[in-house]
Amino acid sequence: MRRYVIAGNWKMNMTPNSAKALIEEMKPLVAGKDNCDVVLCVPAIDIPAAIEATAGSNIKIGAENVHFKASGAYTGEISADMLVEAGVEYVVIGHSERRQYFAETDQTVNLRTLAALNAGLKAIVCVGETLEQRELGYTETLLKFQTKMALTNVTAEQMKNVIIAYEPVWAIGTGVTATADQADEGNGYVRAAVAEMFGDEIAEATVVQYGGSMNDKNAAELLSKPNVDGGLIGGASLVAAKFAAIVDAAQ
Ligand code: PGA
Repeated sequence: MRRYVIAGNWKMNMTPNSAKALIEEMKPLVAGKDNCDVVLCVPAIDIPAAIEATAGSNIKIGAENVHFKASGAYTGEISADMLVEAGVEYVVIGHSERRQYFAETDQTVNLRTLAALNAGLKAIVCVGETLEQRELGYTETLLKFQTKMALTNVTAEQMKNVIIAYEPVWAIGTGVTATADQADEGNGYVRAAVAEMFGDEIAEATVVQYGGSMNDKNAAELLSKPNVDGGLIGGASLVAAKFAAIVDAAQ
């Protein structure tokens, strides 16, 4: 009943021209792979080029952040309406790099999620524990807390536009992937939190991705787990063949 969502997160990589070139390389490799949604979340400046390059293809474009206010004196920020008008369908919210380097909090993650959903965007909300939190035994507590904070005041109806990405901080960009069982367990905690807030039916319908050093080699095993409904992929989404192989693994 849940559909896989394979989403790339390019982070601060790719100029508009290189974005275009990478998408042209990816398009034929992922064409017709209809058993999953294929998304590329790209730097804001790359969005027009990415929208143009993906026109008529099965690749959807996402942003990597959105501000929570509709407009105003927020220098450097981008509103949900701006993204929508540019043709963006998805947006990553609360990535651990934003939490770590840009003072993102559970409150601002919640406000950004509400702004995205109210504008009709699909929100890819990121949660995840640090190694220290895991070693202290707080993984379940932390994941449930972050999930519930992020989804505060989200309506049951809006939950169909929410994707949650479980990304253990210790696995992001490190080459250390969570084992498939750890990913399944973490995603399970996230789903349980959704169930506690919205009930079992919505929890069962909610897409929960895994992210953190997912690649062409480990994707099939991770995606074989019952609670893993897709991936949020950083490094491997910058290489067409690797990203396409992950899309293949979701078929
Ligand atoms: P990674 O990044 O695949 O490079 O570990 C994942 C992410 O940060 O979303």
